[in-house]
Amino acid sequence: MIIGVPKETASCEKRVALIPAVIPSLQKGGMEVHIESGAGVESGYPDAAYTEKGGTIVASRRQVFEHARILVQVRTLGANPEQGRADLSMMQRDQVIVGIAEALSNPQAIQELKTQHVRAFAMELMPRITRAQSMDVLSSMGTVSGYKAVLMAANALPKMLPMLMTAAGTVTPAKVFIIGAGVSGLQAISMARRLGAAVEAYDVRPAVKEQVLSLGAKFVDLPLDAGDAQDKGGYAKAQDEEFYRRQRDLLTKVLTSSDVVITTAAIPGKKAPILITADMVAGMSPGSVIVDLAAERGGNCELTRLNQTVVEHGVTIIGPENPASLVPYHASQMYSKNIATFLLHLVKKGEITLDMEDEITKETLLTRDGEIVHPHVRTLLGLSQTPE
Ligand code: NAI
Repeated sequence: MIIGVPKETASCEKRVALIPAVIPSLQKGGMEVHIESGAGVESGYPDAAYTEKGGTIVASRRQVFEHARILVQVRTLGANPEQGRADLSMMQRDQVIVGIAEALSNPQAIQELKTQHVRAFAMELMPRITRAQSMDVLSSMGTVSGYKAVLMAANALPKMLPMLMTAAGTVTPAKVFIIGAGVSGLQAISMARRLGAAVEAYDVRPAVKEQVLSLGAKFVDLPLDAGDAQDKGGYAKAQDEEFYRRQRDLLTKVLTSSDVVITTAAIPGKKAPILITADMVAGMSPGSVIVDLAAERGGNCELTRLNQTVVEHGVTIIGPENPASLVPYHASQMYSKNIATFLLHLVKKGEITLDMEDEITKETLLTRDGEIVHPHVRTLLGLSQTPE
């Protein structure tokens, strides 16, 4: 059972899907690992580190595709629309492709994978259940993004974050406001607290309040009725426009007194809600900073530009693309742990097992036997629920 690790081809991608440290555990599970030469270099894992752990370095990408029963990637076609297509012709019937597929935002790419008769799995669709926690790439990468967002903000801010009492006077702590306290938001809270900022946070899901308080931040209670804000997967539900309008009104006051605002609000499979308008930015103090972690989903701030830092009304607005990849060494380590756990789940006694009764397999499998089998993706593509 050969696991192939091709080099990532998206220009924004520095991570690698498997790092050398996980190879021994995969070998114990009956798997051999073939790595395209140079695949780990940008994240700090040279070829020699893979061979040292028992991996095989393969010179050509084509050979990786030719020999592997399972290919593992950070970005499969859906998440790598520009360069990913070049791999399609190298895929083989029934080959398993595992990676982030952006299946809900780019279902058309899944149509293309389907025609190759591969079995594609979307890691971002991993169910949020206890058993799957160590395979949850949204959580591991959200953790890295939350950490990095605070550093980006601190770098752009003309102030220091901690309170300092020195002979040259007292420096007051910076005020950091986190909107959306999911995985990345909670990590941003911890990180900003570690750097000594005064931290406040808000989320539409009331269940989060306790977690925010336990991290030493203040929870901003907005007098808003979010109703049943959480779906059964624990994700926020989309609200109507009137709700978002009221929310923006109430947030305006908090924004005017914040030095840093980090936004993470997302609704799975949908464009991110606009929580900060241009007028709200104009009301913020000059020199303050917004880091919009929802930039890839359209942004929580109206003025965010993906992969750009813009200054509007004296406020710096950062719209990072793929922030986890800016910390590629540890992001790859965590992603790799997620992938290795998933592979050990999938491969039993040296064989690939597709148990469709299993929640993890059922919710992540996109294509099989030339069909799209994922109900949500089928709905998005306007297909009937049962494959022909
Ligand atoms: P996410 O990335 O989908 O969204 C980020 C945050 O934005 C969420 O907390 C969401 O409630 C919030 N949000 C959405 N709209 C908002 C608005 N209009 N105003 C303010 N905040 C808004 O969420 P993430 O980080 O993926 O977490 C989703 C849920 O999954 C959480 O409940 C988390 O605790 C849970 N989870 C469960 C796991 C498990 O049991 N294995 C693992 C990881 C997360």
